[in-house]
Amino acid sequence: MSNQTLKIWDVFIRIFHWSLVFAFAVAYFTEDDYQQIHVYSGYTILGLLTFRILWGFIGSEHAKFRSFMVKPSVAIAYLKNLKNKDSKRYVGHNPAGAMMVMALMFSLTATVILGLLVYGAEEFSGPFAFLTANVSQSMAHTLEELHEFFANFTLFLIFLHVLGVLFSSHHHKENLTASMVHGKKRSNQEKLS
Ligand code: HEM
Repeated sequence: MSNQTLKIWDVFIRIFHWSLVFAFAVAYFTEDDYQQIHVYSGYTILGLLTFRILWGFIGSEHAKFRSFMVKPSVAIAYLKNLKNKDSKRYVGHNPAGAMMVMALMFSLTATVILGLLVYGAEEFSGPFAFLTANVSQSMAHTLEELHEFFANFTLFLIFLHVLGVLFSSHHHKENLTASMVHGKKRSNQEKLS
């Protein structure tokens, strides 16, 4: 086993990650009383997601979607094998983490798009006002319920995400959260193919 450290998360991924954490927290806690801040943090999340999707095609090795996208069956096999002490370690996202990244990005995107539809329906503002400014009250209400549902579903995914990070850190005796700060991990990786 090598003690060599490798640079895994480039600076943009790290800035993306912690900005996303901050923007989501702001959006979540300003929902009721600070509408303007809520809207700005929603736009920030949309910008961050747009950047991340682009970076998934042109970014550094471990940021690229093709370096960590796997079939659900691979993630399930990975999770089943976790009970073995010598289960595979990945320097990029492990297969279960990779599925969670995609689920988080999907749920965040749904939350933001629905939020913009609600903003159009209730405030006649934002890029989707042309679509929803004239919808009925009950449709506006349904959009709001869906927006809230996805926001809470995202929160649930975040809970699982953090549990996964803590579990994986313990299992492989490494601090994954610190890696998301300085970008480095020890080598001895198994590559996703
Ligand atoms: C304080 C709580 C959090 C901690 C400690 C944390 C930690 C981490 C770590 C260590 C990774 C890399 C996992 C790996 O090594 O494979 C990661 C990735 C990721 N996390 Fe978190 N996370 C937190 C909160 C969040 C929140 C709130 C969100 C969403 C709003 C989020 C979204 C993501 C995404 C999208 C990635 C993938 C990064 C990428 O490939 O661009 N995380 N997180």
